[in-house]
Amino acid sequence: MTLNKEYQELRDMAAKFADVEVAPIAAQIDHEELIPKTLIDKLKEMGFFGIYIPEEYGGAGLDYISYAIIMEELSRGCASTGVLISAHNSLCNYPILKFGTDEQKKKYLPKLATGEHIGCFCLSEPNAGSDAGALTTFAEDKGDYFEISGTKNFITNGKEAKIAVLFAKTEKTKDHKGMSAFIIETDWEGFSVQKCEDKLGIKGSSTAQISLEKVKVPKENLLGALGKGFRIGLETLDGGRIGIASQALGIGEAAFRYAKKYAMERIQFGKPLSDLQAIQFMLADMSTKLHASRLMILNASQLKDEGERYSKESAQAKLFASEAAMWITTKAIQVLGGAGYCKEYPVERHFRDAKITEIYEGTSEIQRLVIAHNELTS
Ligand code: CAA
Repeated sequence: MTLNKEYQELRDMAAKFADVEVAPIAAQIDHEELIPKTLIDKLKEMGFFGIYIPEEYGGAGLDYISYAIIMEELSRGCASTGVLISAHNSLCNYPILKFGTDEQKKKYLPKLATGEHIGCFCLSEPNAGSDAGALTTFAEDKGDYFEISGTKNFITNGKEAKIAVLFAKTEKTKDHKGMSAFIIETDWEGFSVQKCEDKLGIKGSSTAQISLEKVKVPKENLLGALGKGFRIGLETLDGGRIGIASQALGIGEAAFRYAKKYAMERIQFGKPLSDLQAIQFMLADMSTKLHASRLMILNASQLKDEGERYSKESAQAKLFASEAAMWITTKAIQVLGGAGYCKEYPVERHFRDAKITEIYEGTSEIQRLVIAHNELTS
């Protein structure tokens, strides 16, 4: 699959930004567990907070292939920066764009598009992770408004977000059918961040536990139809999984490039490591897995852009790319040997960052369930 000139120019632009502005501070972001405001301002200037929000709402109006390309390049520079942009675009902007009313889009999208407001997605709970339909956060209909109470877990961007797309039961007796989606402003009374997780990787990205205590939500902030929240959540995740697959690809590509360069420069047994067939085979497998991941991601993105069904393809892309990233980063450490295990070199960070891509927005096991379900029912 050859990308046309526009996509190649977009990749060159995103790659340059990643190389000049992002990668040089990725170790600092990991160490300080913070993406500096200066970088966030540059991401805003680039339009990365509103990649596929239409221009009429102040976004860049690009398609999903463009989104995947930008996500890959940004994540190659820094995985934490990648997921800030990914969760914001695909888990907050997208559902408002797809399921929001005209009023909701006019009210919320312009500030999300510029990054003035950061977005998050509140689905998971302490007892509802892979089993998303089991959530217990409840939105009680109080006539003029909903009153929402509950706890949300593992919320990417939870500390910084101003806008949350949040899921709650609106009927206690029904299973996933009694779930609805809402647009919440996080400064509303009763919404609070309880803690941020201390994680293995993507350490510059906040992962928050959020408490809702009798948060009053205006009726007009119901997103989509009452009782349709589960479908809205799963459809949103279908797109989000392409973003995470692209993140995994970027992390894998970064580890591969470093391992290749190292292998060509490091002399052992009187010659570069890259002259050794054992190392060549590892590099060959890394390159092949990256190529396959990229093709799967572009294919799923293209289906999405063309309005075709793509649940299976996005799950396949995420499953393959995340497991490939884990394998590639493990082998990259192996190529570097003892050096690879030390923080002085970036591959141990890539290894730690890669792991989450097999977990969030649906574990590899959930992706296999989605793929099998699609195969067995089509
Ligand atoms: N799009 C739209 N609707 C869908 C769908 C999709 N991709 N997949 C299923 N549905 C619909 C079904 O048609 C069905 O609809 P009806 O009830 O109207 O018939 C309904 O959803 C239920 O379908 P299932 O019976 O297949 O649902 P299930 O309860 O067995 O669960 C699941 C399916 C695939 C396991 C799903 O629960 C799932 O994806 N779980 C993982 C959740 C997940 O990814 N969590 C990550 C949270 S986000 C995150 O990571 C945090 C962050 O900030 C990054």
